[in-house]
Amino acid sequence: MSKQDAELIARIGRFKQERNAIILAHNYQLGEVQDIADFVGDSLGLSQEAAKTDADVIVFCGVDFMAETASILSPNKLVLLPDKNAGCPMAEMITVEDLREEKREYPEAAVVCYVNSTADVKAESDVCCTSSNAVKVVDSLKVSEVLFIPDKYLAQYVASKNGKKINYWNGFCPTHARILPEDIIELKKKHPQARVVVHPECMPEVIALADAVESTGGIVQFAKQTEAEEIIVGTEIGLLYRLRKENPDKIFYPASDKAVCPNMKLTNLEKVLWALEEMKHVVKVPEEVRIKALHAVNKMISIV
Ligand code: 13P
Ligand code: SF4
Repeated sequence: MSKQDAELIARIGRFKQERNAIILAHNYQLGEVQDIADFVGDSLGLSQEAAKTDADVIVFCGVDFMAETASILSPNKLVLLPDKNAGCPMAEMITVEDLREEKREYPEAAVVCYVNSTADVKAESDVCCTSSNAVKVVDSLKVSEVLFIPDKYLAQYVASKNGKKINYWNGFCPTHARILPEDIIELKKKHPQARVVVHPECMPEVIALADAVESTGGIVQFAKQTEAEEIIVGTEIGLLYRLRKENPDKIFYPASDKAVCPNMKLTNLEKVLWALEEMKHVVKVPEEVRIKALHAVNKMISIV
């Protein structure tokens, strides 16, 4: 580690203590950020941590919808997003007006909202889900028809796992869409012993080639438990940092070097320090929206 990084980390530590802050980081964050976080995880794990922490300040190293979820669950805490431009293009693919119109088209359907969505959209939904519990959440609903937003690929994966009628919005993750079936076929040819694990935000043609389909937290578990020594990983490449760190004896191949989420890479050590120093950028969901969105998030947490 460079002397400069060591100094930054020491300053972050001092501010963290002074502010009674906790640092949460998503599995796609830069290695330097994962290394200083109190908790690194998937969307579900992060929202559970945000709900149970007794810190006064949450520094959320991820993208804006994740910080919003923390604010929905912990309204009395100060939630900080180190880079205010860290958004999620998939979350922005559906607006609350779009959703209201869709609801009129499918009046019998329960609205299942992937957490990769804005607080406004969550507030108009019946229940939220993450990639680790989407199948379970949809299974648990008493209705036979669902409107799944905004990820069409996750919706199609869920539909393949149960008999419900799943209508879906045409959104997708531009990062996971970079992973193509031919990438997996090529890697399987080169490494015939390798197992393939992919994220359910991948397109169905990629999912069809996988041995397992998991959230980022599920991929971490899969990598630990599998007897395979080589693993092809179909998700954003930031996860490989953690996989390699936790499994030094195994070999991980990214399904595609192009699967990089630029928004997840905006946060670095300097920005974490500035967030704590200047107490910004504050993410606060307006109370009226929060109460409605909380209902959908809590319903998910009760199902998990
Ligand atoms: P999970 O970590 O919940 O699998 O989410 C993946 C993702 O794309 C987050 O933006
Ligand atoms: Fe959004 Fe995809 Fe980036 Fe996750 S990886 S934040 S879903 S664009």
